[in-house]
Amino acid sequence: MGTLTDKVALITGAASGIGRSSALRMAENGAAIMCADLDGEGAAQTAAMVQQEGGRAASMDLDVTEEAAIVEALQSTASEFGGLQVLFNNAGIGAVELTWDQVISVNLTGVAHGLFHGAPFIAQQGGGSIINTSSIAGLVGLVGVPPADDDEAPELQPGAGAYVASKHGVAGLTKQYAIAFGALGVRVNAISPGYIETPMTAEMRETTEGEAFLISLHPMGRLGQPEEIASVAAFLASDDASFVNGIVMPVDGGYTAR
Ligand SMILES: NC(=O)c1ccc[n+]([C@@H]2O[C@H](COP(=O)([O-])OP(=O)(O)OC[C@H]3O[C@@H](n4cnc5c(N)ncnc54)[C@H](O)[C@@H]3O)[C@@H](O)[C@H]2O)c1
Repeated sequence: MGTLTDKVALITGAASGIGRSSALRMAENGAAIMCADLDGEGAAQTAAMVQQEGGRAASMDLDVTEEAAIVEALQSTASEFGGLQVLFNNAGIGAVELTWDQVISVNLTGVAHGLFHGAPFIAQQGGGSIINTSSIAGLVGLVGVPPADDDEAPELQPGAGAYVASKHGVAGLTKQYAIAFGALGVRVNAISPGYIETPMTAEMRETTEGEAFLISLHPMGRLGQPEEIASVAAFLASDDASFVNGIVMPVDGGYTAR
């Protein structure tokens, strides 16, 4: 029996990267997965990949910045699969050219919507686990890839500050909801990935220098793979983590150890 047998998981940002890998991993461990994303086509592809592996999955279009859409997503996941025990608030955006409002609305307000509606909903369904994707940028500030010419240093651009603020906000929300809902049977934890090889970091990894700089930030001497975040998400979702509540867990190859 898998560690997630009989559980139902709603994953946001499931069309790509960490969300897609987590859908595959949680399904492999026995959960039924609702793959939700702004990119509905990509979410449907993830669901098809899960089904090809013999898992149970469905998909939906979801914009996490729309509060009513989150409520609808929780309800339709529960009616599709007969309950909801796991919510992975994973959708996020990050690029230095993004505005403050864009980054905060997806990365912080989107997660807040998931917690505000998801925590009581899961409590009513008998309890479960909520996982939020924070970042190393939820624990420390970021140093950007040094500019090739005299462009402004990336860590000074508005998107970088917004990203760090949003991910520190996710860490705070995680602790607050863990306290508020722990006694109601809902554990709330966050994962703080280091740099992971997903489409989000593709541009930064485009040049050999850019990639080498990112690698140099990680004591393990390499970047992470989305599967290495998915396995931790699957653990936090499972009853193996039954006394783990309110942590913001670095999964970063040692990035934040120094
Ligand atoms: N890749 C990394 O190095 C890294 C490091 C730390 C944290 N993270 C975080 O991990 C999470 C997943 O990132 P990823 O690397 O898999 O990126 P990704 O770009 O591969 O996937 C992100 C997904 O989120 C979706 N999305 C964006 N806005 C949305 C919205 N408003 N509503 C619903 N879905 C939306 C996108 O369509 C995409 O499918 C993000 O929260 C990101 O900030 C990533």
